[in-house]
Amino acid sequence: MKSFNRREFMKFTAMGAGSLALAACVAPGAAPGAAPGAGEAAAPVAAGANQLEIFSWWTSGGEVEALNAIYEIYSANYPDTEIINAALTGGAGQGGNMKALLETRMQGGQPPDSFQVHLGRELIDSHVVPDRMEDLSFLYEEEGLNDVFPKDLIDIASYDGKPYSVPVNIHRSNVLWYRPSKLEAAGVAEAPKTWDEFFAAAEKLKAAGIPALAIAEIEPNFSGHVFENILLTQLDQAGYLGLFNGTTGWDDERVTKALDILNKAYDYANEDYLSTSWGDINDRFVADDGPAMMIMGDWTHGVLMSKGFTDYRWAPAPDTAGIFMVLSDSFGLPKNAPHRDNAVNFLRVCGSREGQDAFNPIKGSIPARTDPDLSKYDEYLLSAMEDFKSNTLSPSIQHGAAVKQSFVLDYAIAINNLATNRDVAGAQAMLVQAATDAEFMV
Ligand code: GAL
Repeated sequence: MKSFNRREFMKFTAMGAGSLALAACVAPGAAPGAAPGAGEAAAPVAAGANQLEIFSWWTSGGEVEALNAIYEIYSANYPDTEIINAALTGGAGQGGNMKALLETRMQGGQPPDSFQVHLGRELIDSHVVPDRMEDLSFLYEEEGLNDVFPKDLIDIASYDGKPYSVPVNIHRSNVLWYRPSKLEAAGVAEAPKTWDEFFAAAEKLKAAGIPALAIAEIEPNFSGHVFENILLTQLDQAGYLGLFNGTTGWDDERVTKALDILNKAYDYANEDYLSTSWGDINDRFVADDGPAMMIMGDWTHGVLMSKGFTDYRWAPAPDTAGIFMVLSDSFGLPKNAPHRDNAVNFLRVCGSREGQDAFNPIKGSIPARTDPDLSKYDEYLLSAMEDFKSNTLSPSIQHGAAVKQSFVLDYAIAINNLATNRDVAGAQAMLVQAATDAEFMV
């Protein structure tokens, strides 16, 4: 099975971007025919036309409907603007294709009008530091966003005290999704709260012929997600944050222990995990012969709801009760956006109470705003809101919050190498090299 290095991985995602499967693409209220068709590369849209081109990697169930809910509000307010929904599917998970195409367009001075970007290092290191984004202080003031977003969140969106994007949501990374019917069939009384309980349950499931854990590792990223949830169980908050400022070494024995846990978990995964893609795993999870549990972010809630599927429950990933691993999707304003006024109005909708309360209940995320209409949120989301208020907030690695994108790529490749070769020492050496290359400093 193929292992990836960063150059190949980048090439892989860039190739994906060259043969785009666009989510095809004129949003509600917009005139049909102007969008690029599936398989066509997204050419920059005409500057003179009344358009709005939005990049994202939201092409799965839940994601599409949630984004459409924002577009519908936009179109109701600005009916003459044609929305070009340049959402890209495929590639190496988490927007590999979109990020590759975005990079090409940004470097070529042809940005879209706005694009999805993770709040935190992904936004700051990839786009703000290279001076490609507009300061959004004016918008925060006009829309009163300083009063409705938590200050900590504004800080993460900011560089030199100025905000550079508008967060639409808050996602939780560390959730165990499970199928009660399958646990029951194997005689497992309740969802595992610890990794010890997980492996005890996994043995019972194995005896009943049911894979315990869903893994989709045809390409790097999915295991990187699972691994960040395991790292949390071995390091306290200071130790975890220290991984990104050089005060905790990636050669630490607690990192070894975390790798050992993931390595063991592969023994209980769906057997075809090296040929299963991120996009396919949800179908496997709802299938009768699929795995009983999945450690994934709460967009999974959105995906499963959009399938009309109901045989699932949730719990914190093993050994992470009291911790909320956090990430946030946001939209920013590139310098020289071809339709700047339209982009600014789109950001107004993204930051509005109406926009967030339309988007998040479908997306499976909680609003970034602190004043939601709670009647719109279901049992899971209300519990996530409570946890967000009371838990320790740890930034996600895999989803761009804690570290810059170059490290995320190397990190995902190292964990993919573990999935492929089952060599803990080898994977840890790759993580150490990645941290050295990233020059983490206090
Ligand atoms: C995350 C993103 C989520 C969701 C997920 C799966 O990186 O923040 O909104 O889309 O990827 O694609």
